[in-house]
This record gives sequence, C-alpha cells and structure tokens, in this order.
Amino acid sequence: MENSENFDANELIEVPLIILFFYFCKYTNYKVLFVKKNERYMAEINNLQRQGFASKFGVIAATAGSAVGLGNIWRFPYVTGTNGGGAFIFIYLIFVIVIVINVMLCEFIIGRSAQKNPVGAFKKLAPGKHWHFVGLMGVVAAFVILAFYSTVAGWTLEYIFKSITNAFSNKNPSELSSMFDTFKSGNFLPVLWQLVFMGLTVWIIISGVQKGIEKYSKILMPLLLIIIIILDIRAITLPCAGKGLSFLFNPDFSKVTGNTILQALGQAFFSLSVGMGTLITYGSYINKKENLANTAVTVAGIDTLVAILAGIAIFPAVFAFGIEPSAGPGLVFITLPNIFQQMTGGYIFSLLFFVLLLVAALTSSISVLEVVVVYFVEELKMVRRKATIVAGVLISILGISCTLSWGAMSGISFFGKNIFDLLDFSASNIFLPIGGLFIVLFIGWFYKKEFTRQELSNNGKFKVRYFSVFIFLVKFIAPVAIAIIFLNGIGLLKF
Ligand code: TRP
Repeated sequence: MENSENFDANELIEVPLIILFFYFCKYTNYKVLFVKKNERYMAEINNLQRQGFASKFGVIAATAGSAVGLGNIWRFPYVTGTNGGGAFIFIYLIFVIVIVINVMLCEFIIGRSAQKNPVGAFKKLAPGKHWHFVGLMGVVAAFVILAFYSTVAGWTLEYIFKSITNAFSNKNPSELSSMFDTFKSGNFLPVLWQLVFMGLTVWIIISGVQKGIEKYSKILMPLLLIIIIILDIRAITLPCAGKGLSFLFNPDFSKVTGNTILQALGQAFFSLSVGMGTLITYGSYINKKENLANTAVTVAGIDTLVAILAGIAIFPAVFAFGIEPSAGPGLVFITLPNIFQQMTGGYIFSLLFFVLLLVAALTSSISVLEVVVVYFVEELKMVRRKATIVAGVLISILGISCTLSWGAMSGISFFGKNIFDLLDFSASNIFLPIGGLFIVLFIGWFYKKEFTRQELSNNGKFKVRYFSVFIFLVKFIAPVAIAIIFLNGIGLLKF
C-alpha cells in the first residue's frame, strides 16, 4: 500500500496537535480577537480620515496651537538675543512673508488633497517616485525636535513648581540666574519633569486627537495672549525699557552674518511649525470648505504677534536687570522671574505665565508627536495606542540625552555644541529648511498646477487672485533663497 509506505510517524503527532490548536483557538476566541484587532485598526483608519477639525475657529486654534509654543516665547527671544536684535527680527519678518507662509500653504495643499500622513501623502500624490523620503525626513525631524522640546518643557514644569513655592521672591538677578543653572545641570529633576511632559503629550495623543485639545486651545490661546500683554505693560514701564526696545526694533545690520540669516530662516520655519510635515498632517484634518490661504495668513499673523510680544516682555527686563541678551537657552527662565518679583501680584502672574507656557508647549508637542504616530498607524499599520507609546518611549530616550547634556553628559560635544544645542540647531537650521525646500519644489515643479489651483479655490468656489504670485514665489524665489541661505549659513558658499 503506497499510502501507508509514505506515512510519516510525525503526522501521528501533528494531527492531534492541529486538533488541539483548533480547540485552543475556539476556546480562547483567538480568531475573534484577531479579527477584532483588525476591525479596530480599520475603524481607526477610517475614523482618522473622517475626523477633522470641527469648525473654522477650531482649525485656527489647533494650527495656531501648533505654531505658538516654546518657539515663540522661549526660542525667539534667545535666538534674537544671540543674533544681535533688531536686524535679526527684520530679516525674520521678511522670511515669514516671502518664504515661510508659502511653504505652510504648500504643506496644507499636500495634506488636504492627499488626506494622509506626510509619507503616505507623497506616495499618493507622486506614486512610484522618491518624494516620500521628504516625509520620512520629517518623521526623523519630529524625533529630534521633540527630544529637545521636551527638555525645555520640563524646565517649564519645574518653574511652575518654583512659582507655587514662591521660590523667586527676594532673590537678586544673579541669584535667579544661578538658580536656573543649578537646576538645569542636575541629573534627576530635569529628567523627571521631561518624562512627565512626555507622558502628558502621549496621554493627549492616545486619548483621541483634537477633541480635547481643540477645545482647550480655544480658551487657553486667548488667555496666553492676555497674560503676555499684561507682562508687556509691566516690562515697558521698567527703568531701562528704552534700551530693550531699541535692541529689539533698531536694526544694526553690521551684526548680520550668513549664520544670522540662516538662523532667522530656521527660526521662522520652527516657529510656524513648517518643514517637517506637521502641517501636512494638520492639513489632512482641514475641512474641504476652509480657505487654506486665509488660514495660513491668520496663523502666521498670530504666531508672529506672539513672538514679538514675547520679545517686548523680555528685553526691557534683560537690560533693566543687567542680564546678557546673549544668555542663550536660559534667557526666559532667568529674566522673567526678575519681572515677576517686582510686580504687584507677581506670584499669581508667575504661576499663570508658566502654566500657559506649558499649555502652549503641549499644543505644539502633540502636533509633533502626531506626525510620528500617524506615520506609524498608516504606514506601519500599528494600532494608535501602541504607535503612540512606542514613539513616546523612543523620543524620550533621545530626549533624556538632551536633558543630561547640561549635566552628566555635558562633556560630550560636537562642533563645539552639546547634544541639546546640536539638536536644537540642526532641527531648525538643517532639517526644516531642507524639508521646506523639497516641499516647495514639489508644489512648484512637480505637482500639477491645476490640482494646486483646485485645492486653493476649493474646486473653483472662489477666485485665487494671488495664484500666479504664489506659484512664482514657490517655483523660483523660495527654493533659490532657501538653498542660498542654507549653503551660505553652513559655510559651503561664501559671499
Ligand atoms: N512651532 C512650535 C513652537 O513654536 C514648535 C513646533 C510644533 C514645530 N510643530 C513643529 C516646529 C513642526 C517645527 C516643525 O514652539
């Protein structure tokens, strides 16, 4: 009998094993679980596509929430200070108007027409091409940005705590500045606060995206504006206010170098959340009825206003209390406590200010994490919860090295910068401009003009009078300017 000759003893074991497996599956509902997980995944994907910002105001609040953050209140003053003041701001403003708003609009166009994460968006709009590497670079940039961002947000948490315990009272300027230095160079507290902040960011992103944050942004963003204006009033009535304001608004072009110009561009990209796909992602959540150009102009306007107001709050105090304008990343944490101390009700303002700074940081950090998470969900097919946790843990690991680069790891430096400075500098001045360059090249040279026009006019619902100007800027001016500034700034091209 042929059959019995070929009969393998192993099969004797296999048959009962298969039966056992069958019952295992049946009793543990294994298959059902599997299907459920898949269903959950599909539901999430669909939900993600359907989900969008609820209203026009919601779009503005969430997008401005992303733009307005530590970049305006912490980074803008310190970078302005290290780059000599007025001239830097002048160049910054020109870049916002001529280059960065247009890159923002390009990101919105890509996101809203593709309805996908940055990598998926390029794959969809340019199938079979290599454009999706631009999206991938954005995902990498998100890691780098959130790593040092969470360090500074952690400092903010400590300063909330210090405000509560009234730690600034009766301290002179030099005591306040060494207070910051001592805290920053510790190895425990700064890391702890950073992890708390990352936890908050992860928690918001896990528990459904915009509902909570859209709601809070709408209340807290205007409140932030009010607090800054009150601080401004206190600041400009300080003794040396004039010096501070002239440092801000009197351009001294002799201080401008190639590096200053690159930093102005980098700061504009960073502050407006442009160049790494955050706005491609948010663009995919914007309703087809919204006017994208209006949204971009409004968000850029709010963001610039907050940055300038933050500058006005800080520089008079810098001069009044004898702090170096070029003090670097600690500038806000050193100058503002001096003002709070001298204000009636300083205790409450200090607390309010740092809480609002935290909120501003959170509405931005979630927009950075969202890029990584949506990429994990849509491209790597992860469930949202898992994607968020994995991304959060990986970023925290990089982030801890950033925080410790002021303490235990301060010995490690590259090009004369510690890890923090290196990531801070390279994100804004390398990753974002390169990302932005490819984004404008995509819209300017690759994507069909007709599609761009459709997206800008909501399928012909209204006229886009600025269309040819926009295309001209995006096709020629922006890419050439970014390339020159970048090469000149890193020293590869000398003028
Ligand atoms: N713009 C934010 C700020 O000013 C930070 C930020 C959020 C960001 N998303 C971004 C920066 C994307 C660059 C790219 O604090």
